[in-house]
Amino acid sequence: MIDHATVQRILDTADIVDVVSDFVTLRRRGSNWVGLCPFHNDRSPSFYVSRAKGICKCFSCGQGGSAVNFIMEHEQLSYPEALRYLANKYHIEIVEEEQTDEQRQEQTEREGMLMLNEWACRWMEQQLWETPDGQDIGMTYFKERGFNDTTIRKFRLGYSPRERSALYRAATAEGFNREMLFKLGLCKDDGNGGGYDFFRGRVMFPIFNVAGKVIAFGGRTLNKEDHAKYFNSPDSLIYSKSESTMYGLFQAKRAIARLDKCFIVEGYADVITMHQAGFENVIASSGTALTDGHIHLLHRFTQNVTELFDGDQAGIRAALKGIDKLLSAGLNIKVLLLPDGEDPDSYCRAHSNTEVEQYIAEHETDFIRFKSSILLADAVSDPIKRSAALTDIVHSLAVIPSEITRSMYAQDCASLFSVDEQMLLRQISIQRQKNREEEYKERERERIRREAEQTNQTTATPEDTTRPPRTSKTDQPASAVVNAQKALIRLVVKFGMCYFCDITGENPDDITPVTVAEYTRDQLLTEQLSFTEPVFQRIFAIALELLPEFYEQLQAKVIEIHQANEVLRQAERAEAEQKEMNSGNFSIERLEQELKQIDSKYYLLTKNQVNEFREDYLVRIFCSHYDDEIRTLANTFATDLPQLSRIHTENAHVPTELERISTLLPEAIRLWRLCNINEEIARVRATLRQVPKSSPEQFELLDKQSELIRQRTQLSERVIFTKTLK
Ligand code: CTP
Ligand code: MN
Repeated sequence: MIDHATVQRILDTADIVDVVSDFVTLRRRGSNWVGLCPFHNDRSPSFYVSRAKGICKCFSCGQGGSAVNFIMEHEQLSYPEALRYLANKYHIEIVEEEQTDEQRQEQTEREGMLMLNEWACRWMEQQLWETPDGQDIGMTYFKERGFNDTTIRKFRLGYSPRERSALYRAATAEGFNREMLFKLGLCKDDGNGGGYDFFRGRVMFPIFNVAGKVIAFGGRTLNKEDHAKYFNSPDSLIYSKSESTMYGLFQAKRAIARLDKCFIVEGYADVITMHQAGFENVIASSGTALTDGHIHLLHRFTQNVTELFDGDQAGIRAALKGIDKLLSAGLNIKVLLLPDGEDPDSYCRAHSNTEVEQYIAEHETDFIRFKSSILLADAVSDPIKRSAALTDIVHSLAVIPSEITRSMYAQDCASLFSVDEQMLLRQISIQRQKNREEEYKERERERIRREAEQTNQTTATPEDTTRPPRTSKTDQPASAVVNAQKALIRLVVKFGMCYFCDITGENPDDITPVTVAEYTRDQLLTEQLSFTEPVFQRIFAIALELLPEFYEQLQAKVIEIHQANEVLRQAERAEAEQKEMNSGNFSIERLEQELKQIDSKYYLLTKNQVNEFREDYLVRIFCSHYDDEIRTLANTFATDLPQLSRIHTENAHVPTELERISTLLPEAIRLWRLCNINEEIARVRATLRQVPKSSPEQFELLDKQSELIRQRTQLSERVIFTKTLK
């Protein structure tokens, strides 16, 4: 429903570095930016972003693409949703069509759920701020807890009224689907065609995903008799307690990236109070153990994590549990025990910001040292307990991925336990071997389980077996011809508007420079080839259609680049002249030499900038194209960018694909023809087997076969002369 001009504006405005930075902490490296890949559990930065190309790519898992593509994959959004996201980020107005009930139903369920949650969140905020009960009950409670207005707005806290179905009625009146209210856990089915509110009479803490969308709620009771202090939304299509998010991450992510450190606390109130006290890099695990999903999420923002615990026995036990997981993710973990009986919320409220800072500085303990001292204190004079404690520590040390970190800790622990360091290192290495074996077995078990599941599925129900096996195009290995076509269309996508060669007309003075796309078009015409895959056909047709527009823009671009560089060139020339004049021993030769160098520098610069414009033109369009198939294909082509390579070739110049286009392109076309001939030969052979011996058909086919073989030989031997690229 977004019009073409707006789409264009969004794509032109979206800056890949900026877009990715909202989710990944990027650091500059040369002309690229790098960070930890958000798509897999990355331990060292593999995720590269090229601002010039408008593309990102992970060298480890291969994910990436244009800004739209990145948002689609990262936020699990559809193409229009991703565009809306970007429009919102850059404050580009989208004129929405008035929605009918039908359209509302048509929207994807996910989008609908997010919409409903957003609406519910706003409704609960309204209840808090604008109704007498909200003020008397909800607001009074928040104020008692010391939350100020800014904080309440920032975390979008709300109030859910005590009536049985206030939200249910408001939401259904608004046209929201009741099934969705149930799925999101906002309401329960009353069995009579109606519903009642799940969170009634509670103060509400909305839970946001990293992008700031409301994906769930936590509701705290105000009634001391209630046995469940908090109610939480159930898992749904948009929320998974163990995977989706950590409480406060949306509000904390910038501070976490900036400070390169994060505090983990237990509860909603802890996050909010600490935030208000000026500690913005705080998130909560919401009372559950940290999962791999949480750690993966966290890892993108920082490596440095401090967990805060209550100072009582339960707090210490909690601290010791589950931290091996963080260690094994390669995070640097510290532990902070608060004074007995305090949680971060109460401590921050009772102390000033500087006092809290001081307390953190003095009590933050490295996890391994913390664990050792706790275990040791328990086992001072008991050798058996000491040995159990040491085994425990060895387990923790063995999961640390970095060898340097491991050996540093080993040194520490050896002296703490007064044991031989070498012995400790040996124990660690034995444990690591055991872990590896265990991991391997686990993977095997997983594989077998999955295989069993698959065979179960194929023989599951009778009606399943009557259905023909599902075959999609991607399941079948692509034929040689399709692969050859793909190689060619890849060159068109990546270099379609690049200069290819000059073509001479009837008049030798009549020289036309042609692009890769135009050359391909002419060759395919003479060779009578056409793409067989619909997606290739579409791409090629679009590229050709864009030619007039491209040339128009190119002309403008050349003038723009030329003028900008001309100003710089003149200034530099004047400076060189001035310098030579003032040098004392003026030499016209030296000056001329100098000026020549300046001229050639700007000549090259202009040429490069123009070439860059040509090279980026189609890639940008195809990588953000609304056609799913085109966009997906273009993104896979575009992300094998050689200039994003980690391999630095400082001494040897490895020619880029563009520099080799004059051979690559004719090669690709020739390969396609070869494949066609091979297929034709195979067909002739198959028919030959069926015709009677010595029949006229047989002779005809044999003739055809030898002609094809002759063509094939000729084609494979032919040396291609093409002008080298200027
Ligand atoms: N929690 C929960 N359900 C419960 C109790 C706790 O989901 N029945 C989660 C909440 O996310 C809560 C966190 O565990 O914030 C920590 O629990 P607790 O320390 O009991 O809650 P506080 O945040 O300290 O709650 P409050 O200060 O409001 O009493
Ligand atoms: Mn509390």
